[in-house]
Amino acid sequence: MKYTIGIDIGTSGTKTVLFDSLGKKQASCTVEYPLYQPRNGWAEQDPNDWKNAVFASVADAVKKSGVDPADVVGIGLSGQMHGLVMLDKDGNVLRRSIIWCDQRTAAECADIENLVGKKRLIEISANPALTGFTASKILWVKKNEPEIYARCRHILLPKDYIRYELCGVFATEVSDASGMQLLDVAHRCWSDELLDRLGIDGDLLGKVYESPEITGRLTPEAAAKCGLPAGIPVVGGAGDNAAAAVGVGVVADGRAFTTIGTSGVVFAHTDNPSIDPGGRVHTFCCAVPGAWHLMGVTQAAGLSLHWLRDTVCTAEIAEAAKAGVDPYRIMDDDAAKSPIGANRLIYLPYLMGERTPHLDPNCRGTFVGLSAIHERGDLIRAVLEGVCYSLRDCLEILRGMGAAPELMRVCGGGGKSPLWRQMLADVFGMPTMTLESDEGPALGVAILAMVGAGLYPDVVAACDKIVRAKETYQANIENSVKYTEFYKIYTNLYSHLKDDFAALSRL
Ligand code: XUL
Repeated sequence: MKYTIGIDIGTSGTKTVLFDSLGKKQASCTVEYPLYQPRNGWAEQDPNDWKNAVFASVADAVKKSGVDPADVVGIGLSGQMHGLVMLDKDGNVLRRSIIWCDQRTAAECADIENLVGKKRLIEISANPALTGFTASKILWVKKNEPEIYARCRHILLPKDYIRYELCGVFATEVSDASGMQLLDVAHRCWSDELLDRLGIDGDLLGKVYESPEITGRLTPEAAAKCGLPAGIPVVGGAGDNAAAAVGVGVVADGRAFTTIGTSGVVFAHTDNPSIDPGGRVHTFCCAVPGAWHLMGVTQAAGLSLHWLRDTVCTAEIAEAAKAGVDPYRIMDDDAAKSPIGANRLIYLPYLMGERTPHLDPNCRGTFVGLSAIHERGDLIRAVLEGVCYSLRDCLEILRGMGAAPELMRVCGGGGKSPLWRQMLADVFGMPTMTLESDEGPALGVAILAMVGAGLYPDVVAACDKIVRAKETYQANIENSVKYTEFYKIYTNLYSHLKDDFAALSRL
């Protein structure tokens, strides 16, 4: 039997999973690290934390699996998208990475639209200028930290920095590169026009590959730290969502999935690079060579519940510790006691600004309708529901663009909660389906590594063999009707508050 390794460099931690060639998990290890928020709306991580987490988790997973390291035939990399990693001429990290949810670059986004033109920018990069994307972060450093920019020789995304540490090469692949706002998304290559207009030297960027292609091989130094032989091929891999799509089998037209991780995403595969002229959802290259995906993003999905847990749910944390269970399960039990609509309490999940559908870095999280009757269970339920409404915003736009899935596959940490999964089915008004493996991105890139290593002829054939459905949750029509009443009010609230969010951000 041959094996591959999937490494997912997430926001809360790095997860490494070792799979056999039928996608069966042999061992896994997760190592967590901090998120730094030096100011309201800023978010940074230390690339050295990612590197240490990758070496530690790979070594641990290989050891625990008991697999002969000589039978490991490929490695795939996945991870949080958009983060800016800058290296000097010797490959040293120059500053902490400004990551995907950082919102400091509104001025640089305006600069990008002026330099390129809004319409032309969308034609080439398939997206409007966004604070989350890498280009505006590069311009921010150029403007605010010119001494660092002057020393920068390499610009990489988070997982591509890890590729450099593993193989010594500067490379990326089409799905993650799509989120830099420097790629010609329809033609799957760097755009000289964008680079020229933004004044960014193309030599700073890595070589672009398709996701299953081999980009480099494990160096002897990295191999020693991983407990693996040198020379194992590392394939392009994919940004976390494009990787999750492979892990849940969303590799053909008509298929879609929703993931609730730190952020939340509604993702639909498409064989054509169709673009929302309003830029409310992203069009990116996907991990299937020659195909694309449409994707709406809720910035703070799991993050909203994580924030509520750590700031408000101390009682649930204590109860969970006593019972030896996950605090989120106790929070679910509390939320289940609150009725649909959380006793008329609505939550807007805009803790880190919002992408779909508002594209607004200034909006913030809000509870509307708070009353003295509300208990913690209502707050928890309102947060779960608010995230589902925000994901429905994403789905409605995708539907408007012609993506009409009849079934929603679900994955991510939030997908583990039966309450949240059923709520999603009811709010979307369609069945949701879980998969036998819940290793989404790690499995996705391990599959890409299997294809790169020649174990399967292509990504679709590999998914057909490996990805298996588990449970389907039917939408409850009566509940769907009730949720839609609250959703209608939810969709009005942003426009009522927009100017106040902007005023608050100026104080
Ligand atoms: C996608 C996005 C997030 C991050 C973090 O555009 O910003 O999904 O990749 O998970």
